[in-house]
Amino acid sequence: MLSLLVSATVTLVNGATSVVPAPPPPTPAPSTGASLPSVGSVARDYSPAGWESLWNLVGPVQSPPITTTVDPVLPDVLPSPPPALYPSWFAPQPADIFPNLTLPSGFLFGVSTAAYQVEGAVKEDGKGPTSWDWASRQPGVMVDGSTADITDLQYYLYKLDVARMVSLGINAHSFSISWARIYPFGAADSPVNQAGLDHYSNLIDYHLEMGIKPVATLFHWDTPLALVAYYGGFLGPQIVDDFVNYAKTVFAAYKGRVTTWYTFNEPRVFCAELGIYPFNTSLPIGVNSTQAPFICSYYVVKAHVAAVKAFREMGMPGEIAYKNDDFVGPPWRANSTDDIEAVERHAAFQIGVFSDPVYTTGDWPPIMKETLPPSFLPRFTPEEIAENKGTADFYAIDDYRDQWLAAPLDGLAACVNNTSHPLWPQCNQLMLYDSNAGWSAGPNPDPDSASWLQSTPQNFRYSLQQLQARWPTNKLYISEYGFDEAYEVDRTELYLITEDVTRTNYYMTYLGEALLSIHNDGIPLMGAFAWSIVDNAEWNYGFNAKFGIQYLNHTTLTRTPKRSAYALSQFFAAHLQKNDTVLP
Ligand SMILES: *[C@@H]1O[C@H](CO)[C@@H](O)[C@H](O)[C@H]1NC(C)=O
Ligand SMILES: *[C@@H]1O[C@H](CO)[C@@H](O)[C@H](O)[C@H]1NC(C)=O
Ligand SMILES: *[C@@H]1O[C@H](CO)[C@@H](O)[C@H](O)[C@H]1NC(C)=O
Ligand SMILES: *[C@@H]1O[C@H](CO)[C@@H](O)[C@H](O)[C@H]1NC(C)=O
Ligand SMILES: *[C@@H]1O[C@H](CO)[C@@H](O)[C@H](O)[C@H]1NC(C)=O
Ligand SMILES: *[C@@H]1O[C@H](CO)[C@@H](O)[C@H](O)[C@H]1NC(C)=O
Ligand SMILES: *[C@@H]1O[C@H](CO)[C@@H](O)[C@H](O)[C@H]1NC(C)=O
Ligand SMILES: *[C@@H]1O[C@H](CO)[C@@H](O)[C@H](O)[C@H]1NC(C)=O
Repeated sequence: MLSLLVSATVTLVNGATSVVPAPPPPTPAPSTGASLPSVGSVARDYSPAGWESLWNLVGPVQSPPITTTVDPVLPDVLPSPPPALYPSWFAPQPADIFPNLTLPSGFLFGVSTAAYQVEGAVKEDGKGPTSWDWASRQPGVMVDGSTADITDLQYYLYKLDVARMVSLGINAHSFSISWARIYPFGAADSPVNQAGLDHYSNLIDYHLEMGIKPVATLFHWDTPLALVAYYGGFLGPQIVDDFVNYAKTVFAAYKGRVTTWYTFNEPRVFCAELGIYPFNTSLPIGVNSTQAPFICSYYVVKAHVAAVKAFREMGMPGEIAYKNDDFVGPPWRANSTDDIEAVERHAAFQIGVFSDPVYTTGDWPPIMKETLPPSFLPRFTPEEIAENKGTADFYAIDDYRDQWLAAPLDGLAACVNNTSHPLWPQCNQLMLYDSNAGWSAGPNPDPDSASWLQSTPQNFRYSLQQLQARWPTNKLYISEYGFDEAYEVDRTELYLITEDVTRTNYYMTYLGEALLSIHNDGIPLMGAFAWSIVDNAEWNYGFNAKFGIQYLNHTTLTRTPKRSAYALSQFFAAHLQKNDTVLP
C-alpha cells in the first residue's frame, strides 16, 4: 500500500526544520470523485473489505512521503527575530502595548488546528474516510484543486509543531480528534480502531511532557463518511447515539490528561454547509436543502447535551463547551430600527441558535421559532429544554471579525415572512463598509479566498460586551482568531512571505483591545487561540487561503515562522504572568 518508507533525517537550516529527505510527488490533479449513492443504500460492512469499499466512494488518495513519527532536534531554535516593523513613535513594539496591563494568571496563549486541515495521512493506520475526504474531490469544490491528503502531515510531524510552540512561548494547543480514526465506520456497534486511540494518546502525552496544555475538540466537521452513507450523518436521529458512544470512548481514554474539551467546532457553519454543494447532494429522504441546516442544528444540540451529560456522569476532571462562531456587531445605520432588529436576527440565527439552549433559556431563540415552522426547526420538548440548560462550563467563540450588521436593503418587512427572499430566513447581512461615506470596516480581506474577513479591532470590545450581556459566563476563550493575508499565496520568496504585516497588525491590535476588555470592561477572558500554528488546508479554499503564523513549504514540509509568530511570542512574553510562560 505504501510505496515510500524512508527514515526521516532532521536538520536545522536557518532555524527551519527540513523534515522530508526527498520531495513527495506533486499533488495530483483533483480526481473528479463520484457522488455518493443515495442515503441508506450502502450496507453496513465492518470488515476490511467494507472499509476499502467506503474508501472507494472517495477515490484514490495520495500516500504520505513518510509514515513514522519524526522526533525534533531539541531545543528547537528559532531564526533571529525580525527588526522593528515601524518607528516606535508610529507603533509600539509588541512588548510595549499597554505595558502596565497584564493578563490574568492562568491565561492561555494558544494556537488552534483541526484534524482535517493539518493531519494528512488520511488513509493511514486504519482511519475511515470522512465527509471532507469525499467533498474535496467533488467537481468544482476546491478553489485550487488541492486535497488535504498530505497538507502539514501533522499526523507524523506533531512533535515538530509542539517543539515550535515551546520555542514561541505558546502554552496551549487546541487540536481536534478525527472521529473516523477512532471509529473508522463511525457507528456505536462498529469496531474501535486501537491505532487511532494510540495516536492521540501519544500526541497528548507529548504535549504534557513539553509543557503545552492539550485542548481537544471531538468534532471539527469531519463526519465519518460511513454515517453519511448509512443515514445522512447529522441529518439522521441515529447520529446522537453514535456521537455519544464515540465521545465516551475518547473521554475514557484521555481522562485526566485533557482537561479542556470542546464537543463541536462552529456547529452553525457546519450545519449551514449541509444545505449547500456538495453536501446537499447526499441528503436523506424527507430533508431538503433549506431545512437541512436547522434539522442538523437540532441533532447537534442533542448530541452536545448527551455528550456533556456523559462527561459529568463519568466524573471527567475539567471543563467542556462548544466552540461558537461569529459576532454581534453594531447596527450599520445607527438609528435605523430595521438595522437594530437585524442585529437581533443575527444574534439569534448565528449565535443564539447554539447559545440560548445551553447558556440561557434552554430553547431556540424566539426569533427563530417565529420565523421557522417545526418542519424546518424541530421543537424541543419541556424535558429537552430542562436537559439543555447549563450544559457548558465556559463560553468559547471563534471571533475572527466584528463588522456592522444591516437589514436587507429592500427592508426587513420584505424578508421576514417571505420564503422566496434571498436572505430568508436570517434576514440580515453583514456590511464591509460604513453607511456614511462607504469607508471599509478595516484592512481588507484576500480577494482570492476568505473574502468575509476584514481586520476590525475597533469593534472587538463591543462584540465581547454583547456576548457577555447576552450569554453571561465566568470564563471566556477566544477559541480561534486570525487573519488571511491578502495575496500571500502569490508571494514566492521567503522574505516576502514571512513579512505578514496585516496579520501582525491584526494580532497586535486585537490583543491590545483584549487587554482593555479584561481591565476596563470586566470581560472574563482567559485564553486566546491563534488560527493557526502553520498554513493548512482551508476547506474549499485549499492552500490559497493563508492563515498560518508559520509558512508551510509543501515540498519539504518545512515550517518557517512569519513576523506574526514573533509578535505574538513577544506580546505574550511581556503580558503573561511569569509562571504561565513556557520556556524551553
Ligand atoms: C507603568 O508602570 C511604571 C512602573 O511601575 C510607572 O512608572 C508608569 O507610570 C506606569 N505607566 C502608566 C501609563 O500607568
Ligand atoms: C445544492 O446547492 C447548490 C448551491 O450551493 C445549488 O446550486 C444546487 O442546486 C443544490 N442542489 C441540490 C440537489 O439541492
Ligand atoms: C423544503 O421543504 C419545506 C417543507 O416541506 C418547504 O416548505 C420548502 O419549500 C422546501 N424547500 C425547497 C428548497 O424545496
Ligand atoms: C442618531 O440619533 C441621535 C438622536 O436623535 C443623534 O444624536 C445621532 O446623531 C444619530 N446618529 C446617526 C448616525 O444618525
Ligand atoms: C410576519 O408574520 C407574523 C405572523 O403572521 C406577523 O405577526 C408579522 O407581523 C409579520 N411580519 C411582517 C414584517 O410582515
Ligand atoms: C419576497 O421576496 C421577493 C424576492 O426578493 C420579492 O420579489 C417580493 O417582492 C417579496 N414579497 C413581498 C411580499 O415583499
Ligand atoms: C520550498 O522548498 C523547495 C525545495 O527545497 C525550494 O526550492 C523552495 O524555494 C522553497 N520555497 C520557499 C518559498 O522557500
Ligand atoms: C501564578 O502566580 C500567581 C500569583 O503569584 C498565583 O496566584 C497563581 O496561582 C500562579 N499560577 C500557577 C499556575 O501556578
